[in-house]
Amino acid sequence: MSSVEKIKSELSALNAEYAKIKDLPPEERKNFGIEMNKKKALLEQKLKEAEEAVEDAEVAPVDETAPSAPNSEIPRFKLGSKHPLMTELNKVLSIYAHMGFNIMESRQLDDEFHMFESLNFPEGHPARDGYDTFRTAENFIPPAHTSTMQYRALRRFKDDLKNGGEIAVVIPGRVFRNEDADATHEHTFYQCEGVFVSKDATMGQMLGVLKNLFETYYGQKLNTKTQPGYFPFTEPSLEFLIEKPKSLGGKGDGWLEMLGCGMIHPNVLKTAGIDPEEYKGFAWGGGIDRLVMLKYGLTDIRYFESGSLKFLEEF
Ligand code: DAH
Repeated sequence: MSSVEKIKSELSALNAEYAKIKDLPPEERKNFGIEMNKKKALLEQKLKEAEEAVEDAEVAPVDETAPSAPNSEIPRFKLGSKHPLMTELNKVLSIYAHMGFNIMESRQLDDEFHMFESLNFPEGHPARDGYDTFRTAENFIPPAHTSTMQYRALRRFKDDLKNGGEIAVVIPGRVFRNEDADATHEHTFYQCEGVFVSKDATMGQMLGVLKNLFETYYGQKLNTKTQPGYFPFTEPSLEFLIEKPKSLGGKGDGWLEMLGCGMIHPNVLKTAGIDPEEYKGFAWGGGIDRLVMLKYGLTDIRYFESGSLKFLEEF
């Protein structure tokens, strides 16, 4: 029986008792009446409170955002996890950090100067086409590659060159391209850029850094090679390839292009205020998504940006 019903039945029992008044001697009737009325008033007050409590309970607000209201029926929310791209990017950055590289973060909105001029793409240069993708109404550019950060990295660490030192920086970032998305192309993805400058930087050092990066990341020896490429900001320019390891599904036949690289063009150094007669540098940049796809045998790059919990929960 609910408390409201209980009080109601007590009240009706009390009302029945009023009838006893006629059996009492006249001198006792007054006190009996007063006592009965007091009891009745008390019960009526209790009834009112009980009814109000029921009403309150019916409209009690439920905070659906509360993660774990201890006595409620709201299920506990499952804890989220790091996005696989961020977990893997951190592994890459840690490998570079062990080699002595500083880390800077790229921007998601940049400008004409950092996107083109500082990278030796003069106005009207045909190579601009490949990188000229999105622009905001204010003429800002969601960068098509992390190379937009080269100028900032060179300026930021220029003083490290004093007394025979070197500039050594890697720059991870999110980049954007006007792509027709398919299993291997996505409009939004991640890259990591590297910049190294010293008095006598060589291509051999660059290839050593890159081989070490990939072998450490995949945890095995790899066959690597380069082929000629073209980028306005490097001279010479190369593409760096690894042979798809058997342990990662390779059949001893496939070479995968992992990144673009080369010796930093003298104009890029000069624009950043570094004398190309005195200093040499190399730079490289490649996609993180592709690196991770190979490691885990993923076949569709679009999973990364899909927000699919089914996909994310596998990591
Ligand atoms: N930014 C180039 C791209 O996304 C890759 C690249 C090539 C980066 C050569 C470099 C480099 O730093 O030196 O296509």
